[in-house]
Amino acid sequence: MKPPPLMFRLHADETLFGNVAAGLNAEHGSIEHRRFPDGESYVRILSECAGRDVVILCGLDHPDNKLMSLLFAAATMTELGAQRLTLVAPYLPYLRQDQAFHRGESVSARHFGALVARYFDALVTVDPHLHRIHDLAAICPITCRVVPAAPAIAAWIKARVARPVIVGPDAESRQWVAAVAELAGAPYVVGEKVRRGDRDVTVALTDTQAVAGRTPVLIDDIISTGRTMAAVVELLAGGGKAPPVCVGVHALFDDATLALLQRAGAGMVVTCNTIAHASNAIDLAASIVGGVVASRSRKML
Ligand code: R5P
Repeated sequence: MKPPPLMFRLHADETLFGNVAAGLNAEHGSIEHRRFPDGESYVRILSECAGRDVVILCGLDHPDNKLMSLLFAAATMTELGAQRLTLVAPYLPYLRQDQAFHRGESVSARHFGALVARYFDALVTVDPHLHRIHDLAAICPITCRVVPAAPAIAAWIKARVARPVIVGPDAESRQWVAAVAELAGAPYVVGEKVRRGDRDVTVALTDTQAVAGRTPVLIDDIISTGRTMAAVVELLAGGGKAPPVCVGVHALFDDATLALLQRAGAGMVVTCNTIAHASNAIDLAASIVGGVVASRSRKML
């Protein structure tokens, strides 16, 4: 029988780590990391990695602050003899820039994927922002396992929202919206978004009939500036209708954004726990465990 993995927590939520490690029956690894006074990263691996199947659960929101310690940890574990290295990054950053829209622009999705592939044997993540790139393995040529948030989101909606209609802001969101709608047994509608700048977004919704008499549940993979969600909320709120519920998979937003959504007329604003955030209401620990198990068994085939 395969021995349990050795699992390390780096910049990740303690509760999520505990639950995923318990689900994998993993041994907790010990890692020391801190900053030198000048801001550079110090990393020391305190557990014996030789011959082990090693998993790092790493929070990668605001990635520039976290990447160096992650790469140093991975490289050191390999030097210490780790047999296999899996990165579990519930939120995978840098995927939205997946094309050079202007000459000379860095396609960060490609470069970031290549960087991960250089240090790890396998990657497990939740609903990565794949738009023009359809397959994660195309930019990160290692074993990749994508964990869908849709089943947990649909279960949350079924338990808490009466007569929901699932609403996506744009064509990109259709993949998540359609999956959630099917699992929740609800209709769905998708809008047309135009983004003119980071904080300049408009959304048009032609099929307003689908929303009539129902509680709109807006779903997007990422809530960052909140401008996308707010544009949809403004279309649907008010006039005595049920306030739109906003559901994001990855919570990259701050309190000012939450206030913006509330001013626009949003009801509940909830997210999955891929990034530790006050809005977390949908637990994906069990789904992530399933993703890691699948990524390990694929190797055994
Ligand atoms: C865009 O392509 C994503 O799917 C999200 O719609 C976007 O990242 C949301 O960003 P913001 O909250 O800044 O409008």
